Amino acid sequence: MKVLVLGGAGYIGSHTVYELINKNHKVVIIDNLETGYKQAIHKDAKFYEGDLRDKTFLNEVFKKENDIDGIIHFAANSLVGESMENPLKYYDNNLIGTKVLLEAMIENNITKIVFSSTAATYGEPENIPILESDKTEPTNTYGETKLAMEKMFKWVSKAHNLNYVSLRYFNACGAYKDGTIGEAHNPETHLIPIILQVANGTREQINIFGDDYNTKDGTCIRDYIHVSDLADAHILAMEYLLKGGENNTFNLGNGVGFTVKEVIETAKKVTGKDIKAVISERRVGDPAVLVASSQKAKEVLKWNPTRNSLEEIIKSAWKWHSLNPNGFDNN
Ligand code: UFG
Repeated sequence: MKVLVLGGAGYIGSHTVYELINKNHKVVIIDNLETGYKQAIHKDAKFYEGDLRDKTFLNEVFKKENDIDGIIHFAANSLVGESMENPLKYYDNNLIGTKVLLEAMIENNITKIVFSSTAATYGEPENIPILESDKTEPTNTYGETKLAMEKMFKWVSKAHNLNYVSLRYFNACGAYKDGTIGEAHNPETHLIPIILQVANGTREQINIFGDDYNTKDGTCIRDYIHVSDLADAHILAMEYLLKGGENNTFNLGNGVGFTVKEVIETAKKVTGKDIKAVISERRVGDPAVLVASSQKAKEVLKWNPTRNSLEEIIKSAWKWHSLNPNGFDNN
């Protein structure tokens, strides 16, 4: 199939492009390089630099690449903290960008789309593991814009010939198997990259955000899922749509939760380094426990995450961080 990947220079986008190309699919990438990196773009993908909110640009790409089977849409801002400080940036990029994209899809008769949603659509969960049918009440602007995107797709698909799959990721982590691409945010806010930056000497310590949660060791529990397993799910979701699958929403996680302290201990074991950790204040808006039920993705998409031990995930991330201590900068 020929797939247009929006945000294909970003973390999850670039890993999905690599898996698509490994499976001999044709890939076209659009990215504005605001948070993505040119170095993360696979050499066999065709790349157009530009912004989703630019309809003329989108139409030009759609006209040139006129045999696109479907779109995988990662192009969004995704930092919870930043979304609380600058909510309109999130409404603009995540919602206006998606609105313009939908207009261009309709005009160019592109009818299939798989897009990134998030566990942040649930807010404070009522049940663990979380099911797709559980209440969605985001506690931050990022989650709110992703939920609004899901609803935009729902209503637009009722009026137009368009089908979508929404993928609600839990904690994406890990890196491509050979360490050529991996997680690189600037500034970095995510737990595993920060821990590994301490291990590789580019950061002094990790601050544990709260040890007074109602969990086994007092620190927050999350469901860590390897980015290449996420990539596989996108390809399966696109194949599902192309086979006539109906609109759908799936959680993507491992179904197993680890505390922040357990992640640090595993990273110490994997890296053989002492990792200085300091207990600090809770971070506003962090739920105590987020663990997915991904039963539905396994049943409907036949998704089979295989890189699922925390040790293996951290090993792959460590390979990336030790080969590229400054991420994509100065490579
Ligand atoms: N944490 C620390 N110290 C740090 C960074 C994180 O203790 O320096 C803790 C957090 O408090 C949290 C856990 O590590 O308990 C994981 O934090 P991350 O920032 O790595 O990830 P989040 O769970 O906050 O966020 C992830 C995705 C978001 C998504 C969110 C859903 O990265 O995109 O899950 O809640 F919105």
